[in-house]
Amino acid sequence: MSDLIVVESVSKRYVTSSGPIEALHDVSLSVGAGEFCTLIGPSGCGKSTLLGMLGGLVTADTGRLLVDGRPVNGPDPGRVATVFQDAGLFPWRTALENVEFGLELQGVPRERRRAVATELLGPLGLRDFAEKYPRELSGGLRQRVAIGRALAIDTQIILMDEPFGALDEQTRLLMGEWLLDIWRRTRKTVVFVTHSLHEALALSTRVMVMTARPGRIKRVLELPMPYPRAMESAEMVALRATLWSGIRDESLRAMGER
Ligand SMILES: Nc1ncnc2c1ncn2[C@@H]1O[C@H](COP(=O)(O)OP(=O)(O)O)[C@@H](O)[C@H]1O
Ligand SMILES: [Mg+2]
Repeated sequence: MSDLIVVESVSKRYVTSSGPIEALHDVSLSVGAGEFCTLIGPSGCGKSTLLGMLGGLVTADTGRLLVDGRPVNGPDPGRVATVFQDAGLFPWRTALENVEFGLELQGVPRERRRAVATELLGPLGLRDFAEKYPRELSGGLRQRVAIGRALAIDTQIILMDEPFGALDEQTRLLMGEWLLDIWRRTRKTVVFVTHSLHEALALSTRVMVMTARPGRIKRVLELPMPYPRAMESAEMVALRATLWSGIRDESLRAMGER
């Protein structure tokens, strides 16, 4: 697998009124094309900072970030799309019009963007909701629209920062299944942030556990097993224990800091 994303020795310090905060310290990683790579670690360990850097929204103090061999210098909406925990939909646009939004920014003609967005609604499970406004949709459906908006612009890379973090557990499980299906159809390269061990293990080709702040990559778990995964199997239960033991200490450290 070629490395589509390369992060080399990246550090980041924020200057705040109460002094500097070292968010990331010497982080290096790479993500191959078509991977579903998950970052997991305690709150405040720099996960969003790292995604922000990949999306060109945050600059690194040291090191470098390459996407497809080229340095990241600011947002590049043709190459990288980001989905956040809050769907961030436009309330005055229908689901379909929200999915179309990125194409509109790219200057795609009206008919063409309508056709692209309409075709996406089927696999997104949104066909019956095309004309609904965000306030008429459940949280899960709103996140589908947000992910649809990212898919419509057809970037090679989608960054997802706790996209299901605000959903209840059952909706979240269903959204995980849904996302797995979408990802397997589209073969996008996904960098995903979650606090859910289940999501990390059910969805990822690779999981990177981060330390408490300043965030570093503590451990990398390769998950080559096929999908859908039998989450109750002895293998997955053992992996869950391994993952949790890596995260638990870091979460305790992060808690103690507060
Ligand atoms: N713009 C900012 N200014 C100052 N501090 C920030 C800023 N963004 C993040 N931080 C701090 O940097 C650390 C890492 O934040 P973040 O990347 O959001 O972590 P995570 O997403 O893992 O919770 C936290 O301590 C956070 O408070
Ligand atoms: Mg975050």
